[in-house]
Amino acid sequence: MNLNSLDPAWIGKTFDDFLFRPQKGITESRAAISLTSQLTGQVSLELPIVSSNMDSVTGLDMAETMALEGGLGVIHRGQSIEKQAALVSRVKRSHSAVIENPLCLPITATVGEAKLFARRHNINGILIETAEGSGVLAGVLTRRDIPWQRDFDDRPVAEFMTTFDRLTTAPANVSTETAEQIMFEGRFERLPLIDGERRIQGLITRKDVRFLRERPYASKDNKARLLTAAAIGCAGDYLERADELLKSGTDCFFIDIAHGHSTVMETAIDQLKSRCPGVPLVCGNVATADGARFMRDIGADAVKVGVGPGRGCRTRLETAAGVPQLQAIRETWCAVGGEIRIMADGGVKHDKDIFLALACGADTVMLGSALSGTDEAPGRVIEDPATHTKKKIYRGMTSPEAVLESLYDSDDTDAVDAALYTPPEGQEIQVPYKGSVVDILQRIRGHLRSAVSYAGETSLSAAREKTLPDPLKFMVPLSESSRRESYER
Ligand code: XMP
Repeated sequence: MNLNSLDPAWIGKTFDDFLFRPQKGITESRAAISLTSQLTGQVSLELPIVSSNMDSVTGLDMAETMALEGGLGVIHRGQSIEKQAALVSRVKRSHSAVIENPLCLPITATVGEAKLFARRHNINGILIETAEGSGVLAGVLTRRDIPWQRDFDDRPVAEFMTTFDRLTTAPANVSTETAEQIMFEGRFERLPLIDGERRIQGLITRKDVRFLRERPYASKDNKARLLTAAAIGCAGDYLERADELLKSGTDCFFIDIAHGHSTVMETAIDQLKSRCPGVPLVCGNVATADGARFMRDIGADAVKVGVGPGRGCRTRLETAAGVPQLQAIRETWCAVGGEIRIMADGGVKHDKDIFLALACGADTVMLGSALSGTDEAPGRVIEDPATHTKKKIYRGMTSPEAVLESLYDSDDTDAVDAALYTPPEGQEIQVPYKGSVVDILQRIRGHLRSAVSYAGETSLSAAREKTLPDPLKFMVPLSESSRRESYER
């Protein structure tokens, strides 16, 4: 379809222009309502929420927490390739039931080196191998074994570790349940996995197994490691970045540029498809039916929709480019819905906006400001000296502050030049400090379930199946006064 056949009732409309007409409820328990949705054809999420690839939204903590809560974090590209790849690899290593390539130190390492190693990698137990790179298990050194006094720093770890003959180990194919039982019975925290020649095959920790059991919604890959995604651009060193991110274990690329409906995107998708076949590509941003069809035709697995609705955006103010977000979502669904997946990106101020986005076309929703200001978002808590209220910084990725920071450790002169000569289309603001993002995600989960119940269905997918062919049947357009009645409190 094209814009001419879009029902005029959508033109110029966004989230605050509609309410959802309540349907007859059929659920006995809202807690049982499934919110599963597809990020791409291959990847599904139990909570259809994705945190923005912005330097004030998604770093290590946000990426881990998003995946643990059933969503996904996209690690931003406003940093060096090395730093971004290191973050991806830390997410992949965190909380997996089996750590496949556990970090090791050789038996000749000193206590001082072990302290530094544990701190740098944020781990409590280090596997000790018989010689550097041998991969043969000699023992385990935990934080408890490491003497804190500096005088011991030059002594070899061999003097303090639990040696192999006193360790319990298991074969690589041990089930998580058996591993947990072994660790419970022995009252120890970690179980090295080895083969018949004592070669290290992996590591299971009690903390990780317990943590994952307590989070049934966690987004995991087929090896039970947390899912994570990383953003790349379409210029400069993006292919080198993609190679490194892939080596670090990223599950999905977000090819993210301000104007995705462009020839540079076509080249980038083409290159990435041949370089990293099979890796899902979420590409954007676009805001029109033509833009979505373009993405489908050049091979995107999902299209990211939103030009200018974001809280840190100035694109509409500075360039006049943009489409009201609910219209953009509907327009793209009419163009490519059911063929590739749609992610609504930007402009969500209230939880009801998320449901409207999903009911009108989006498969998943990306949030920036709504998740900013939390403990898990990068950046410090600042206190306003006048009001004593706590705040954090939220900023658009093309704000002068974010651009400057991203240039600090860039060797890519083309990218530096391009950034320096492009006037900003983003801004920095202060947002209230909000505590843990876990509470926000739980609130969103609860509100989405309630919305599905009001839609008269028992799952998000059933609700979308009902509304997507003609959402206007379920929507109440608002007048000035009904908008005041609904939202002014
Ligand atoms: P919200 O409304 O959730 O929006 O805070 C997050 C989205 O905003 C986009 N973004 C930008 N858009 N200039 C823009 O025009 C920018 O500097 C900028 N930085 C982020 C991005 O799509 C994000 O997910």
